[in-house]
Amino acid sequence: VPTPDRDKLSAALDELNGMMTAAHVAGLVGLGVRLGLYERLAAAGAVTSAELARAAGLDERWVREWLHGQAAARVVGYDGDGHFSITPEVALLLADEDHLFYLGGSFAGIPNRVGLVPQIEEAFRTGIGLSFDERGAAAAADTERLFRNWYRQLLVPVALPMLDGVVDRLTAGATVADVGCGAGVALVEMALAFPSSAFHGYEVSAHALERAATNVAAAGVDNVELHDVADAPLPPDEGFDLITTFDCLHDMTAPAEVVAEIRKAIRPDGTWFIVDINGAATFEDNLQTRMAPIMYAMSVYGCMSSALSEPGGAGLGTLGLPEPRMRELVEGAGFSRFRRIPLDHPFNAFYEARP
Ligand SMILES: C[S@@+](CC[C@H](N)C(=O)[O-])C[C@H]1O[C@@H](n2cnc3c(N)ncnc32)[C@H](O)[C@@H]1O
Repeated sequence: VPTPDRDKLSAALDELNGMMTAAHVAGLVGLGVRLGLYERLAAAGAVTSAELARAAGLDERWVREWLHGQAAARVVGYDGDGHFSITPEVALLLADEDHLFYLGGSFAGIPNRVGLVPQIEEAFRTGIGLSFDERGAAAAADTERLFRNWYRQLLVPVALPMLDGVVDRLTAGATVADVGCGAGVALVEMALAFPSSAFHGYEVSAHALERAATNVAAAGVDNVELHDVADAPLPPDEGFDLITTFDCLHDMTAPAEVVAEIRKAIRPDGTWFIVDINGAATFEDNLQTRMAPIMYAMSVYGCMSSALSEPGGAGLGTLGLPEPRMRELVEGAGFSRFRRIPLDHPFNAFYEARP
C-alpha cells in the first residue's frame, strides 16, 4: 500500500471536513428558513437571542445555540454584546422568497432530499428509482419553490417575446400545452397574461396536479385545464400552437416517446419552447464546471431517479440532456428547426423547436 503524502492528506482532510461542515450547517440554514428566523433577523436589525426567540415565538435556549452556530459559520453576523444581525445580501438570499436569487427554499428542502437516501440506497441494488410521487408531496412543493420566481418574473415579459411570433399568437388566442407542468405556476402566469388563449397542463404526478389545481383556483383563471396523462394523454391531432416543456424531459422515463407525442400534437406552424438543464456536452467538460457537484447530487436524489422509476427508463438525469443531445432528440422526432434562445440562467438552457 503506498504511503499517503502528508500534504495531500492534509488537503483532502480540509476538503472533506469543509464538505461535512457545509452539509450540517446547511440543514440548520434550512431549519432557520422554515422557522422564519432570517425574516425576523432581516426585519429586526441587531437582536439578542431572547429578542429573536420572543419575536418568533420560540424557545430562547434553542434559538441561542442556532445563532451561535450561524455566527460561527459566518451566515449571521455577531455584533458583540449578545447581538446578532444579517447583512442585506444574506437577507435577500434567505429571507426574500420572491427574489429571483432566493435560496431559502432549496435549503429548506434538504431534509426531504437527504431523507430519501435509504430508499435510494435500495435503488442502487434494484436499478429502479423513485417516481416524483414516490418522493412525496414535499418534492412537488420543493420543485415549485425552485422555479416559481423565474416564471413569475421572466417567462412572460422576457422569455416568450424571444420566440418567433409567439406573443402575437397568444394575444390573438392560441391553444397551449405545458407538458410536465408541475405545480402549474408557468400556466397561471401565461393564462393571466393571455386571457384569449386556452392553456392545458399535462402531468404524471398526482401531488403536482393537486398543487396546480390549487394555484389555478387561487389565481382565479378560467382558461387553464389540467390533465393526468395516465388517462388524458396529449391528443395527436396537431392542435397546439405552442407547447412548452420546462425542466422535465431529462426527468422522464421515456423522453423520446413524449417528444414523438409532442410532434404529433403540435400544429405545422406551431412552436415548441424547451427549457432544460444547461449541462456540458461531455462528463469531462462537466467536471470543469462549478455546478456539476450539486447537479450530479440532484440527479441521484431526483432527476435520474425519476427517469429510472420504471424498468427500461431512459435515466438521462440532471446533466443528461445537453444541447447536442437535445438537438438529436428534437430533430430525430421530425422537427426541422431547432435553435438556442440566448437567455441567461444559472443552470438552464432555452431552445425553440418548430416542425
Ligand atoms: C422538475 S419537474 C418540473 C415541473 C414544472 N415544469 C416546473 O418547471 O416547475 C418535472 C415534472 O415532469 C413531470 N413528468 C415526468 N414525466 C412526465 C411525463 N411523461 N408526462 C408529463 N409529465 C411528466 C414530473 O411529474 C414533474 O412534475
